[in-house]
Amino acid sequence: MKTINIAIDGPAGAGKSTIAKMVSARLGYIYVDTGALYRAVALYITENNIADEDIEKALAGADVSLRFVDGAQRVFLGDRDVSDLIRTPAISMAASRTSAIPAVRAYLFETQQKIARENNIIMDGRDIGTVVLPNADVKIFLTASAEERANRRYKELAEKPDCPPYDEILQDIIKRDYADMHREISPLKQAEDAVLVDTTTLNLEESAEAIVKVIESKIG
Ligand code: DC
Repeated sequence: MKTINIAIDGPAGAGKSTIAKMVSARLGYIYVDTGALYRAVALYITENNIADEDIEKALAGADVSLRFVDGAQRVFLGDRDVSDLIRTPAISMAASRTSAIPAVRAYLFETQQKIARENNIIMDGRDIGTVVLPNADVKIFLTASAEERANRRYKELAEKPDCPPYDEILQDIIKRDYADMHREISPLKQAEDAVLVDTTTLNLEESAEAIVKVIESKIG
């Protein structure tokens, strides 16, 4: 049976994961956060001190997998659930760097395609509509202005004691956008047949609603 595949790509901080989770719950699809796979690989490389030239060989033994518990995604290295360990700033940085290594992308390519073949999914990432699932039923490019994304991140962090200044957050976002859009392999870009959803002036509910409308217009 053919499964339904919905690809959502866009820059860091556009709200992809929160919005994609809301839409998946509404449609009864599995939400797949591919950033978690890149983060788990980064954790593996960091913990095992693997040099760049040894990554391809080492990944053969990494055993990165996703499991779904009550519809929620957990990411595993072997039998170890690393879903929480991968959410540190150090692993964000490491994942940003190692995700540009061709052997890392090649390793995760089949993992992502297999999940999409076997399930009705909403998959978010940077290259899902362009590279991983070029035949996805629906492709969405979700974005918001850099200033608005920085603003949202600032509000999220404002409660915490070590909240960085707004300008620093904005500069980080601009830097990460640049790195994601200009890397040689699988750069972040809107697929030709993707629908652009700009959430700069939308709240979460309005953003989810906009995406559900796009999906309904494509697959009824
Ligand atoms: O979405 P995220 O911040 O959890 O992603 C972590 C890193 O992985 C990010 O720097 C970009 C990279 N990534 C990627 O290159 N391709 C994807 N499909 C998903 C994430």
